[in-house]
Amino acid sequence: STQVNKRYNIVLVVLDILIQKSYIFLLLKVAEMGHVKVMEKVAYAMLFGDFLPQSIPQAKAIFEKLALEGSPKAQTVIATALVYYTFGALGGNLVAQMILDLVPPRKVDLMTCLSYVSRGSAVQRTRLLDEVENPGSSSGMLEEDLIQYYQFLAEKGDVQAQVGLGQLHLHGGRGVEQNHQRAYEYFNQAANAGNTHAMAFLGKMYSEGSEYVSQNNDTALHYFKKAADLGNPVGQSGLGMAYLYGRGVPVNYDLALKYFQKAAEQGWVDGQLQLGTMYYNGIGVKRDYKQALKFFNLASQAGHILAFYNLAQMHATGTGVMRSCHTAVELFKNVCERGRWSERLMAAYGSFKEGDMDSALVQYLLLAEQGYEVAQSNVAFILDQKGSQIFNENETYPRALLHWTRAAAQGYTVARIKLGDYHFYGYGTDVDYETAVIHYRLASEQQHSAQAMFNLGYMHEKGLGIKQDIHLAKRFYDMAAEASPDAQVPVFLALCKLGFIYALQYLQDLNLKELLSQVDLDQLLGPEWDLYLMTVIALLLDTFFILRSIHCSQNYF
Ligand SMILES: *[C@@H]1O[C@H](CO)[C@@H](O)[C@H](O)[C@H]1NC(C)=O
Ligand SMILES: *[C@@H]1O[C@H](CO)[C@@H](O)[C@H](O)[C@H]1NC(C)=O
Repeated sequence: STQVNKRYNIVLVVLDILIQKSYIFLLLKVAEMGHVKVMEKVAYAMLFGDFLPQSIPQAKAIFEKLALEGSPKAQTVIATALVYYTFGALGGNLVAQMILDLVPPRKVDLMTCLSYVSRGSAVQRTRLLDEVENPGSSSGMLEEDLIQYYQFLAEKGDVQAQVGLGQLHLHGGRGVEQNHQRAYEYFNQAANAGNTHAMAFLGKMYSEGSEYVSQNNDTALHYFKKAADLGNPVGQSGLGMAYLYGRGVPVNYDLALKYFQKAAEQGWVDGQLQLGTMYYNGIGVKRDYKQALKFFNLASQAGHILAFYNLAQMHATGTGVMRSCHTAVELFKNVCERGRWSERLMAAYGSFKEGDMDSALVQYLLLAEQGYEVAQSNVAFILDQKGSQIFNENETYPRALLHWTRAAAQGYTVARIKLGDYHFYGYGTDVDYETAVIHYRLASEQQHSAQAMFNLGYMHEKGLGIKQDIHLAKRFYDMAAEASPDAQVPVFLALCKLGFIYALQYLQDLNLKELLSQVDLDQLLGPEWDLYLMTVIALLLDTFFILRSIHCSQNYF
């Protein structure tokens, strides 16, 4: 079977080359011959409109055909990829949503590191690595042997092996393709033999739902309860989730907390992570960053990647701990290095560093297809900077807009603000202040972005897309300054300018209207007078700030 694997890999490489070189007509030809892998690629390309005109119906048709023929990839694509992209913003992806709820990213100055960190699917992938014990080497050959050995044991009725294989098939990885049917069968066998872990995982499968096992809260609850009653932490954690999100039961934060606590006490990382989250957000308990830190720390010791991520965010923003960029970066690196996708990301980043934008773009595009938000953002970024020649000039902004949209749907604040900017300036779309306001609002309300608040202040000040309102403008400026220390300087400038406008209005109210009406400010001071004013103030401030060493934005990598 190594032979088969080798051929399989070669096919993949050839396909990637075909795609990179845009030999899409060749792909189409091969696809017509019914080659499964090629059909998958073509369907992907159609789905995301990369290299091919986007056609979701056509893509869907191909995937459905493949799924009927039993291609597990196509089956999961329909279940996950479409949901991921189409409904990502609506909470279709639980993990992405969870992270959104958990830590609204605030600081933009961690961009460099964050550009390595993918959220969402990365978590699902890597967690499995931690669950299956790793006997030293991880070369492909050994893994294959190991899997076969597990299969041998499972057939002999070894319950542990059945559970392990169930987990492997549930998530896919280590050379095992995701296959919910097989996962279900393994878990079912083990559960019938009385294994509580398997019962809990059956609960998970029903809770999450898939092509093979349709989502069913009641059945999920039944299995979770059964496992939890027998003291299984996975079941307890599952029950906690059911109570937290009201799946099959009314929402009950107290009970959720209780079950997470039980699971955490037994060292189950999901329970620890959820407890941390509840303390972090003050759900069902009083908000307590110290406790949150404690549980995230515990979960991170077990290698939970999301815990590393949360810890990094807390250290980066100084939440519950002294702000420490150094620690944050170490933690972020930890996250970065765990993902299986990291190699590809690193390679893409390498190309980017070397200035080979075309290659970087293609690699990021492929990763973006798989739903990695960071890759989507980077695709948009490269296009935004006009770094690559791959696409026609007039396609650049629309494509960038598309990828910002996808990244924003996954909760990436900067992408959300970019969407606002694109509509504000009319990049890749018509100028549309109202839509810009909508995006800035989202970024401001959901992610507490100082930048977005600032922009809203500006739009209120100028009356762009919303009613002109100097008072509201001031409020947004103040909020921005409060949300981030980094916003304080621009906010100060904007407020100075507002003060100036105030003064003018005041003068007008003093019946100096006539005098003022003769003075056309734009004529007197030039059309950009407000910018000049701000520049003067900025220069004054600059001399002021030069003495202060400004925090830790240097030395990230
Ligand atoms: C399960 O519960 C969730 C949360 O209340 C709900 O959104 C979902 O529709 C339920 N699933 C089914 C199949 O009823
Ligand atoms: C711009 O887009 C149109 C299609 O909308 C295309 O026909 C044209 O070649 C493009 N222009 C350039 C300069 O690429």
